[in-house]
Amino acid sequence: MSDRDLISEIEDTTRDGVARITAARTLDELRSVEIEVLGKKARLTTVKKALGALGPDQRRVAGQTLNEARRALEAALADRRSELDALARAERLEQERLDLTESRDPARRGHHHLVTQTRDRLEDVFVGMGFTVAEGPEVETDFYNFEALNIPAAHPARGMWDTLYVDLGEPETVLLRTHTSPVQIRVMQAASPPIAVVAPGRVYRRDTADASHLPVFHQIEGLVVDREVTFGDLAGTLEAFTTAYFGGAIHSRLRPSYFPFTEPSAEYDINCIICEGQGCRTCGQTGWLELGGCGMVHPNVFRAVDLDPEEWTGFAFGFGIDRLALMRHGVDDIRELMINDVRFLEQF
Ligand code: DAH
Repeated sequence: MSDRDLISEIEDTTRDGVARITAARTLDELRSVEIEVLGKKARLTTVKKALGALGPDQRRVAGQTLNEARRALEAALADRRSELDALARAERLEQERLDLTESRDPARRGHHHLVTQTRDRLEDVFVGMGFTVAEGPEVETDFYNFEALNIPAAHPARGMWDTLYVDLGEPETVLLRTHTSPVQIRVMQAASPPIAVVAPGRVYRRDTADASHLPVFHQIEGLVVDREVTFGDLAGTLEAFTTAYFGGAIHSRLRPSYFPFTEPSAEYDINCIICEGQGCRTCGQTGWLELGGCGMVHPNVFRAVDLDPEEWTGFAFGFGIDRLALMRHGVDDIRELMINDVRFLEQF
């Protein structure tokens, strides 16, 4: 082969090599093109071996051309590699991109928990009846949770609530409130009658969770204080609430009971909202559902907040929000409210 032929062979091979480098579509493809154009079996490598057969001058010229060819191919490879690198990075970023607009898809938007919805609805009904909404702390003192509610230390009625005490101050003086009734005391300390408040909130008891118990659950408390409030006002208010909240088919009844902070005291029942009084599994065939307790504010409770029981009268009630939510939706395990499985929560 003449040196002329050799040089044009090198130039052709280089041109062809650069074209193939530029045409490589991926980094992998580029790597194999690199082996083909610069590797041991590459055309240029064979040409280099042929240089030995040339005379010294021709070998120098051809050698220079060969070096330039290598440099040109290496430069083309480097260019193409950085282009393909950038492309691969952009592709990876696109794949890893988090679509943060997803939560704006109305079909997937979250909503309030069933218990929160129930509490909001209860508040709405009571506010519509002229009540205001009050709140109290979940960590309470013995005074508010028991003492001021006419449950002195060692009173057997303390056994009605399995109390969780907080390790703070003197033993058994600070606790997680076992009911929302302490808010009655706080409201009467803060405002003078007439009073009409409801106080929804979380309460705690030393209970093991099962299908009908949770150690943390929710109650809504009610308190009305004014002159000449009667048991008839209590019964009428609860009946008005019952029909407003559950609809006209559901009515209430009061059964004699005992609570230390009310006298007389009663259990507040409503017609079973599942069977409307016919008798079913939910109401244990009785036709009635027990919602909570109520009664006329005990004179000792008024005395604890410096209200004269000769002048002031009142009624109070308290019932469980969780149970109410479960009954309304026919859910038979209260633990569902805590497990937070979206497949359950999505249904409400
Ligand atoms: N605090 C009571 C409980 O947790 C419920 C209750 C009963 C509240 C009678 C009241 C009431 O306000 O008058 O068991």
